[in-house]
Amino acid sequence: MIKIDNNYIQLDTVDTSSLMRVNEYGDIEQLYYGDKIDFGDRAAITPNRSVLLVNTVYPIGDESYGIDAINLSFSSGGIGDFRKPACVCMELNGNNIEFVYSGYRLGCTPSWLSPHTPNGWSDSIVIDYSSIDGSVSIELWYLVYEGSNVIARATRVTNNGSEITVNKLSSLQLDIEANERQLVSFNGAWGREQSRKITDLNVGIVSHGADNGLSSAECNPFFMIKDRETTQHAGNAYGFNLVYSGSHVYSVETSVYNGMRILSGIASSTLNYHLKAGECMTSPFAVMTHSSRGLNGVSGNMHDFIYNHIIPREAITPIMLNTWEAMYFDISEEKIMAVATKAKELAFDGVVIDDGWFLSRNDDTSSLGDWVEDKIKFPNGIFNLASRVKDMGLLFGIWIEPEMVSENSNLYRQHPDWALKSKVGRDIVGRNQYILDITRSEVADYVYDSIVSVVSSYGADYLKWDFNRRFSNVVGERDSYSYDYAVALDGILSRLIAAYPKLYLEVCASGGGRFDLGMLSYSHIVWTSDNTNALSRIDIQEGTSYGYPVATMLSHLSASPNHQTQRIMTRQTAADVAKIGAYGTQLNILQIDDDYSEFIRRANSDYRSTQQWLARAKCYRVVDGQTSNQTVWQVMASNGECGRVMIYHKKFDPVSGGRAIKLVGLEPNALYNINGHKVNITAHGTTLMSCGMVLPQNYQGHTMTDKTLKLVDNTTLSLNITRIGGNE
Ligand code: DGJ
Repeated sequence: MIKIDNNYIQLDTVDTSSLMRVNEYGDIEQLYYGDKIDFGDRAAITPNRSVLLVNTVYPIGDESYGIDAINLSFSSGGIGDFRKPACVCMELNGNNIEFVYSGYRLGCTPSWLSPHTPNGWSDSIVIDYSSIDGSVSIELWYLVYEGSNVIARATRVTNNGSEITVNKLSSLQLDIEANERQLVSFNGAWGREQSRKITDLNVGIVSHGADNGLSSAECNPFFMIKDRETTQHAGNAYGFNLVYSGSHVYSVETSVYNGMRILSGIASSTLNYHLKAGECMTSPFAVMTHSSRGLNGVSGNMHDFIYNHIIPREAITPIMLNTWEAMYFDISEEKIMAVATKAKELAFDGVVIDDGWFLSRNDDTSSLGDWVEDKIKFPNGIFNLASRVKDMGLLFGIWIEPEMVSENSNLYRQHPDWALKSKVGRDIVGRNQYILDITRSEVADYVYDSIVSVVSSYGADYLKWDFNRRFSNVVGERDSYSYDYAVALDGILSRLIAAYPKLYLEVCASGGGRFDLGMLSYSHIVWTSDNTNALSRIDIQEGTSYGYPVATMLSHLSASPNHQTQRIMTRQTAADVAKIGAYGTQLNILQIDDDYSEFIRRANSDYRSTQQWLARAKCYRVVDGQTSNQTVWQVMASNGECGRVMIYHKKFDPVSGGRAIKLVGLEPNALYNINGHKVNITAHGTTLMSCGMVLPQNYQGHTMTDKTLKLVDNTTLSLNITRIGGNE
């Protein structure tokens, strides 16, 4: 809900309020963002600036207005606000353009298709600014997603005068009190995505981002700001993300006046976007939330927002068998049929043919761009194979990397200029391949037509969309390239899901390099990481859970020793971790014994019992896995009737005493049964949340049934939670 009175504007969600005020200078002050407050109290929290509080510059005659210390909703620099601005627009002669507030409009709907706007907002307001001569305007778009406690903001520049450049365009600016808060960021690399880092914020700027064309494994666009004392379960925290898939940056600047400025948006280090008369540039939407219920509270809001406004194409994650680690490029009609037959026996929902199915693709040096089946591997064609797979009652999935071209390909030989290559300097490849320049409409059309031809001619139910290199040869050529590319990608994706609304879409970028709200706006799940070793995965999935629900994290049971880490894991541990996610496998099921086959059949059937509700589950980090020997995750059906708790014990500490696991999110007076592996506890919600469950210390004993290993570290216990009584 949006409340307005005189110069005050309050954006309310169910649990939060953001209060702004247009002041006498036409600046919009951010007076407050946090737990919900009464709009009637607005005067009480308006600062009284009767004395000079800061040693800075001020408008003539008003020493009390030191703008460098005022929390603002928008800053374009140049007027004595020495913090980094959200937006920089320049005349071609290099003059910075200054903007002043000019009004607001309620109930507007974005008119642009891309960057994508999350659906289903409850209220909207556009705050208008104008350059002094009136030729350039800025619109601050605020969309309120009331039930999810999320506010989205985008910034749009329109030029009606002579040509200008946009050199910075943040989606979001939020100024709040600094109060010795901390930044929680999610950095990593291939194979160790979403590793949580906590940074104390002192005076100065902390900035993270990725300039490589991806939301990236190096720095996920999701981040949090928390009070020092905030825990998983209590205390104030803010969460931020960007509805965009491309180069991005966020910064947190702490001023000497206890101010904190948070900016988030597209990468700007080389941005130089030319706007001619009549043109506009629109930032993606950034989203923000607040909770005083700790880090889980922020995650819960973000998860709710993702369920309801980012991935509303309701779908149950099918249990798929992917051929990549099982066979790599060594696939054939015969092998896929054998796998499909066994997959059916083991109760999988379908099979995904990964890389290697198209023209002469026997390793990663060739053929990207030639999306035609390889007749040597598939003599009867993939349509025929897909039909046989589907006749067995299985879903048919296929891999594609549509934005790429190999130098050794027919596409490259026909259109060498479609590849993003240096015109003058050295050519840089990644995995032997080039990115196609989809900012050119004929290239975008080719990419779209290729995808459509694969999906429609093979009757694919499921598409895995991969992207395996970073951008190069773009800086200096067109400084806005990454933005133009992301907009073009949006265009292809939106056409695809409009044409194939039932297509189940998995996103991958060498693992989790595109785990972002931009891609999730069109897809269902993201391949979380190529690293499927459970000990690594526990950190990767837990890191990912801060910003994204488990239902979006594709997680596989895979071979031991693990192909990426060469570490050994018990199958039980690997399956327990993967099953708190969108579960599947890439094991070679043709090479396992009966015992293992039976294990997989049981794991699939167990996952199937959670499949329905896991797609919209509430997810909690019960124990902070990064600071404890245990990682404990709890997932609950949205109706609270059932759930699961997964306890991961990293190393076995002999005689270390028991630790009570205190569940969360239960109805205090309802009766629950906790069941699984020698555990059978019945108690009320209050008891389970306050006293917790003391589990048998030696619960790793169940892994002793794994005949391949002796006593091991890294064991799991996965217990079902069932509500068996109401509020008695
Ligand atoms: C990278 C992905 O992360 C893998 O899962 C697999 O699809 C390969 N690409 C195929 O080339």
